[in-house]
Parts: sequence; C-alpha cells; structure tokens
Amino acid sequence: MANNTNQAGFASKLGAILAAAGSAVGLGNVWRFPTETGTNGGAAFILIYLLFMVLLAMPIMIAEFAIGRHGQKNVSYSFEKMSGGKKWWKYMGLVPVVSGFLVLSYYAVVAGWTLEYAFQAGINGFAGKMGTQFADDFQAFSSDPLKPLIWLFFMLSLTFGIVAMGVQKGIERGAKIMMPILFIFIAVLVVCSLMLPDASLGLTFLLKPDFSKVTGATALSAMGQAFFSLSVGLCCLCTYACYFRKDIDLIKDGFSVASIDTLVALMSGLIIFPAVYSIPGLQPDAGPSLVFITLPSVFQQVFGGMPAVAYLFSLMFYLLLVMAALTSSISMLEMSAVYFHKKWKITRPQASLGVSLVCLVLGTACSLSFGIWKDVTVFGMGFFDLFDFLVAKFIMPIGGFLTCIFLGWVVDEKVLRSEITNEGTLKQPLYPVFRFIIRYFAPVCILMIFLNELGLFKVIVGLF
Ligand code: PHE
Repeated sequence: MANNTNQAGFASKLGAILAAAGSAVGLGNVWRFPTETGTNGGAAFILIYLLFMVLLAMPIMIAEFAIGRHGQKNVSYSFEKMSGGKKWWKYMGLVPVVSGFLVLSYYAVVAGWTLEYAFQAGINGFAGKMGTQFADDFQAFSSDPLKPLIWLFFMLSLTFGIVAMGVQKGIERGAKIMMPILFIFIAVLVVCSLMLPDASLGLTFLLKPDFSKVTGATALSAMGQAFFSLSVGLCCLCTYACYFRKDIDLIKDGFSVASIDTLVALMSGLIIFPAVYSIPGLQPDAGPSLVFITLPSVFQQVFGGMPAVAYLFSLMFYLLLVMAALTSSISMLEMSAVYFHKKWKITRPQASLGVSLVCLVLGTACSLSFGIWKDVTVFGMGFFDLFDFLVAKFIMPIGGFLTCIFLGWVVDEKVLRSEITNEGTLKQPLYPVFRFIIRYFAPVCILMIFLNELGLFKVIVGLF
C-alpha cells in the first residue's frame, strides 16, 4: 500500500477509479438520465447536460478529489489541513455525514424497487403481461405497505455487507467485480436495442437537437442531473479520495471517471429510447415510470415472439440497474459510516450497521410516502420528495459552491498546485483552466442557478 498514513486506502489505481466510477454510475445514469432526457425533449437537453458536465461537475469532482487526497484521512481533516489550519472549515466534514443519511434513505427505496424488478424478471414474472397491467402492477407494488420495505431491507443489507468488509476487501473488490459486468451487460443491451424495428427514431430523438424545447428550467435540470450523476456536492468522492494513493493523476483520472459516467448515461439512452420508439404510439416522456412501467412492457411486446430473448433482455436490464444502484449506495453508506467509525472509535461493521439501521427507518418513511403516508407532507412534499429536494436542490449546489470557494479562494495556490501536479511531478497543462473554473466560473454559475431556483434571481435582476 502506497499510502503514507496508517489507514487502508484503495490498493490499486484501477480499483480507485472503478470505485469512484461505481459511485458515479448509478440510478442517476440508467433511470434518472433517460427520464430527464425524455421529459426535457431529447438531444438539446443532452448537449446542455454535457456542457455542464465538462464545465461544472467534472471540475468540482476533481476539486473534491484534490481536497480528499490532500488529507488522506477523512473529509474534516482534509479541509482543515488544506486550509492551512483554519479551524471552522473542518465542519465541511459534516456535509457527507448528514447527506449520506439523507441520500441513502431515499435512494435505497428505488434501489429496492430494482431488486423486485430483477426478481420478477428472474422468475419470468413479466411473461404474458400487457400494457396497462404493468402500470397497475407498479402502482400496486410501490404503494404496498410491506413489499417495498422488504426490498429496502435487502438493499441496505447488501450495502452494509460490502461496506462492513472494508475499503479494499469490500468497496474496491465490489467495484472491480460489478463494474466490468455492468459494462458487458450495457454493451449487449445497446446492441440488441439498436437492432429493434424503428430504432432510428430513438436515435434521432437522442442525437438531433431541437432547441425550441429549451427553457431556463431545462438548464436547471441539466445542471442538477450533471451534479447528481457525478455524485458531486455532497463530498462523497471527497470521502473516497481520502483513500487515493499519491500517484493518482487527479485531472486525467477524474476525466476517466467523468467519461465512464457520461458513457453509461448515453448508452442507457441508447438502450431505452430505441426500445420505446419500437412500439408505435409510446412516448419517451413517460417520466420516472419509464423504466418500471414502459420498459418491461416494451420488452414483452417487441420480443413477444421470442420469449427466451424477452426473458434474458429483462433480466439483464434489471440486474444492470441493481448493480449500478449498489455501487452507488455503497459510497453513500461509506460517507456517514466512516465518520462514526473514526469519531466514536467503533468498528467499521458496527458503524455501518448503525447508519444502515437509521437509513432503514428513514427509508421506510420515504417508501410509505408512495402509499399509506401519501398525505403526510412537510413543506408540501412527501418524505421521498422532501429528501430528494434537500439533497439534489439544496445540499448539492451549496456543497459544490462551498467546495469551489474553499479551493479557489481559501486554499493557498501553491498547495493546490502541488496537489494537482502530484508535488510537481506532473505537468498538468490544464491546471490554469481548472483553477479559473473553480475560482470564478463554477461559483458564479451555481449561484445564479441556485438563486433562480429560489425565485430570487428575477428579483435581483429587477433591482437593476
Ligand atoms: N451518482 C449516483 C448516481 O448516478 C448518485 C449519487 C449521488 C451517489 C450522491 C453518491 C452521492 O446514481
């Protein structure tokens, strides 16, 4: 282990990249991305998303990498050390702890749904069903007071099991096993999907931009999606970067992680939209139900004459979702668990178990908000929507903004340069561009979008 502190880090560079990519690649790519693309009009949304990915999310992810790796211990220590001892920055270490609980609690609910769908696919439970039956089934399942909770429990148990095994034996090994399988599945599914009748309609939707559909809200959604997809703003990858070795090239390897994430999102689009368009009359803007209602129905209809293919296609797709969800939920649990493991000097399994149990309770509330607790609202939102709002619309932009301010304005430039260039051993010609983005472009952009979201932007513009 090339780590110069006594904590276990990722054993290999590949393992570190795959673990970070595992955190990034998740339901955000295979479920949320096609949903957002579908409801925001297709190719034009994707272009704006890509722009935000390159200009905002990726630089902030690299910033999180730099901060985490600088301390090599934990997020609090990293912030304090990098600030040159300014004490209160260590409280940034609480961001991943709090957001870890929030994000895992609701993410694991949907992750649990993917387990149910993989199970149904496995027992050939979709065979012979048609159109509206899938909608009814999904509605009945997601609002059931018990079934989703059982899958939530399973999902959290799997996540707990991996995190409890540790950084190398659990997180790194899990990523090294699951990520390659995920790539193979996704590649096979893309090829199959592109061979469907009228696949070209789906391709046109994905590739031919129609800018008349772009509004301010589109930009907002695109930024939110880029942040969520790269796990940026919650100091999640900052937590992982504490385990990075000193030979990782933060810019180049960060680029690899962002590329893998983007590729998986685009490939998910290539699976889903040709499939949807292969059935006349189906629309790509079905929203969140696209993956749980529209797709299983599509699989049955297009492969109706070939039951074995329908079976395999469905099973692979839902297993893909499960693995993507799991590699992300692991990183969410790690964010909170490692804090208690270190702070309270309890073992890693104890800390992971404690956090998982709390998430089970909070997740139960989120899950029930689709059924019997539908009418229990806080600020007009059910628990699931509330948690999603707090994480994606609140903590992520604020966390991303603070990370930029910290690295761009608080940290001594020499310290930053030394971290990014691995103490001067790498050239990093893109360093000035990175610094400019972190110092000026990203904070201004986030602030504008955030104010806009709160409805304050118009008020301020109105003042001038
Ligand atoms: N990036 C993950 C996804 O695409 C979600 C995630 C968000 C993971 C925040 C960790 C932290 O599904």
